[in-house]
Amino acid sequence: MKKIIIAIDGTSSTGKSSIAKKLAKHIGYTYIDTGAMYRAVTLLALRHDIIRQDGSIDEAHLETLLQKATLSFGRNEESGQSEIYLNGENVEREIRGMEVSSHVSPIAAIPFVREALVVQQQAMGKSGGIVMDGRDIGTVVFPDAEMKIFMTATPEVRAQRRFKELQEKNMPATYDDILKNVKERDYIDSHRTVAPLRQAEDAYLMDNSDMTFEEEMDVLINMFKDKVSGE
Ligand code: DC
Repeated sequence: MKKIIIAIDGTSSTGKSSIAKKLAKHIGYTYIDTGAMYRAVTLLALRHDIIRQDGSIDEAHLETLLQKATLSFGRNEESGQSEIYLNGENVEREIRGMEVSSHVSPIAAIPFVREALVVQQQAMGKSGGIVMDGRDIGTVVFPDAEMKIFMTATPEVRAQRRFKELQEKNMPATYDDILKNVKERDYIDSHRTVAPLRQAEDAYLMDNSDMTFEEEMDVLINMFKDKVSGE
């Protein structure tokens, strides 16, 4: 059976990665979290003081660092999940905190950052058999992906989910700060010049504000079966 490419895009904290991970496991595909790649580059920038106090970015310095940096995914044997490595160091936990979340959108809007990461993403997915989640997978990275989903939910529902997730991980954050961050990221992600967040014309729109995880899985698995049986 042909191994297809599944592109899952959408707004932040919509549960894209949870559902993408689960779907990939269920159908025996590889899951690739492209947001983790933008987050790791942001961590690199933060560690080298590339983001100035006034929020501006020393792009020349970042470009040099990025050329030498390596990003990779490795499997956590305990959890069975794939985790991201920056220059050989596991940074999975650090990239999920508020510090990185509050700086990632402007970093992800820089054209050379996007170009470098898109090339890596295309290489990772070229043989198919992947579930890739992000913002531009169905529009830019894999415009010919066989199955495309665009996920969204209200900002309040998304902030509440993220708040719960951070609490469970014992990571400090308030609901109000998270809600503000969710709205700011929506704005920056959908208004940037390069690869703005938008629904691909052939993507299936899934608003999961009132859906359970199981309902979402059912929709995706049925869609997957249709796609592969129609190939
Ligand atoms: O999915 P996430 O919240 O981990 O993504 C972090 C940020 O990276 C988000 O603000 C948008 C950006 N991003 C992007 O621009 N393109 C992608 N393919 C994935 C994420």
